[in-house]
Amino acid sequence: MYSFRNDYSEGAHPSVLKALCETNLEQTCGYGLDPRCMAAADLVRNLCAAPNAAIHFLVGGTQANLVIIDALLRPYEAVIAAHTGHVNVHETGAIEATGHKVCTALSNDGKLTPALVESVLSAHSSEHMVLPRVVYISDTTEIGTLYTKAELTALRRCCDAHDLLLFLDGARLGSALTSPENDLTLPDLFALTDVFTIGGTKNGALFGEALVLRTPCAHFRWHMKQRGAVLAKGRLLGIQFQALLENGLYFEIARHANDMAFRLRDGIAALGFPFPVASPSNQQFPVLPNAAVAALQAKGYEFEIDHAVDDAHTCIRLVTSWATPQDAVDAFLKDLAAC
Ligand SMILES: Cc1ncc(COP(=O)(O)O)c(C=O)c1O
Repeated sequence: MYSFRNDYSEGAHPSVLKALCETNLEQTCGYGLDPRCMAAADLVRNLCAAPNAAIHFLVGGTQANLVIIDALLRPYEAVIAAHTGHVNVHETGAIEATGHKVCTALSNDGKLTPALVESVLSAHSSEHMVLPRVVYISDTTEIGTLYTKAELTALRRCCDAHDLLLFLDGARLGSALTSPENDLTLPDLFALTDVFTIGGTKNGALFGEALVLRTPCAHFRWHMKQRGAVLAKGRLLGIQFQALLENGLYFEIARHANDMAFRLRDGIAALGFPFPVASPSNQQFPVLPNAAVAALQAKGYEFEIDHAVDDAHTCIRLVTSWATPQDAVDAFLKDLAAC
């Protein structure tokens, strides 16, 4: 039975593995200063139309978030996030462990707006409180929603008006950028944020996130190293991003993950089950009767339980990946219909 638990349940896309195998005996210098990382960084700069961008490759999403947020903030400064934001809910206090508070705003759709950012600012108006300085958002969000160009532009204006830095966590950026509802491009992200990540872990890499900085952050590699984020065999990150980015594979496989999610969504909706939030990306959150959830689990399907809706219904999370076969989606829909 198939697992819809996550988009990193499989290893790497075969082209990534092939590239790793073909370069296995190459000898390079360490710590991400090798020709593979340089070439991958150039690919990122080209795709972002950002010849002067500073690019760094890190191993994982939590690591990237905590290193960049900590590097951007002074000791008394804080980060603003939606209450559902990954840095607030799912990073074991990693940001707080660097000494910086996460100030949250209640969001219905996982997104921040200028009004929400300003509500946090006005609640932190004295020197006896932390000073919010970075705005953290993710695209896609934790509940599968996307930022539009107009929404991101409004946040940029808000950040400029209040001297804030805007950080977009792109752990699922592949799914966001290839969603039919997306109107943002990599050059837009570069122009509208101060820093963003391009997630590899959830889109075909064994591991790896690329960090793209509009303004270089002083001594950033020192920050990385001190947090254990400079990989001795850093070339493994460069090789993977080269394989993903040089022929558009990154976007092709993200589109597949989205297509499988939409097939699931449409099939589940056709059976009459509701979705509290419309997600145009590779995470879907249907509400099912508890009996159906139990029956699917008994059949061996794996997925996350998001929350209990009432005594008889549960909202579950289904995630598809670059590797999800259409047959697995169709079998799930057939089994759901049967129960
Ligand atoms: C938006 C977002 N950011 C960061 C992360 C953290 O990534 P990792 O598990 O690699 O630390 C995740 C992982 O689920 C995520 O969804």
